[in-house]
Amino acid sequence: MAERLIELRNIKKSYGSVYALGGVDLHVDKGEVLGLVGDNGAGKSTLIKILAGAVRPTSGDILVRGKPVHGWNAARSREAGIETVFQDRALAVQQSIVRNIFMGNEIANRFGFLDVEKEVAEAQRLMREIGFTSKVFTPHSIVGQLSGGERQGVAIARSIYREADLIILDEPTTALSLTETNKVFHFVRQVRASGRSILFIGHNIHHVYDIADRFVVMDRGRVALQTSKAEMSSAEDLIRFMEQTAHPTPAEAAQGAA
Ligand SMILES: Nc1ncnc2c1ncn2[C@@H]1O[C@H](COP(=O)(O)OP(=O)(O)OP(=O)(O)O)[C@@H](O)[C@H]1O
Ligand SMILES: [Mg+2]
Repeated sequence: MAERLIELRNIKKSYGSVYALGGVDLHVDKGEVLGLVGDNGAGKSTLIKILAGAVRPTSGDILVRGKPVHGWNAARSREAGIETVFQDRALAVQQSIVRNIFMGNEIANRFGFLDVEKEVAEAQRLMREIGFTSKVFTPHSIVGQLSGGERQGVAIARSIYREADLIILDEPTTALSLTETNKVFHFVRQVRASGRSILFIGHNIHHVYDIADRFVVMDRGRVALQTSKAEMSSAEDLIRFMEQTAHPTPAEAAQGAA
């Protein structure tokens, strides 16, 4: 059986009287890419903020490698090996690749000074590990000169340096062309091949279908559907399945009843 990295049980999150999450069960296994999809407001971001320890659930349990963790917060999340690449505040674009990777985790030499040589060597190793094989860019290149897909690569390399076992990517391909999307997919596959896990959040079902091994579909704060690639023969299959299981909106329900 697959090794369970993290598990959420009956997680609820309310904002006042509104439930952003109404009891979510979800797990991520070691070495898998889990695709998380759902319409606007489905609760995807709330869920990953809870995994990152940035938002506290109203109720429910979080288990790391099978053991319940109490007092879940950002520090516990990091200890558990969870790193999130948030869409907006991912990188400092005026800084070099190497500065971005080690930001907040600089390597010091025995005199306490920044060990640039070691950082550059480590950056090269990390970039090789995720399959970032550009001949144009070196660790000294400025992130602002990189394409969108390559920037995601830098953020992923940083997560790996921070010893992530699970990297959460929040809509990493939304603003990207097909070529750039394929770069991100290449990085994701390299990360999976190293035994790490990825939680991939996306709007585009075709993208998510291509990259994920398993899918969780959210609908208004609940898991509407969980399925695996083995059970779905194509992205169209997954879309059809989602349509069949989708709950009607209140307007549609009213229309249906009329
Ligand atoms: N801080 C907050 N205060 C009040 N309501 C919130 C807050 N954060 C989220 N919500 C509500 O919770 C629900 C889920 O929001 P969430 O951002 O998790 O959805 P999402 O699936 O990430 O949507 P999107 O695809 O648009 O990013 C929404 O109805 C949202 O308005
Ligand atoms: Mg969101």
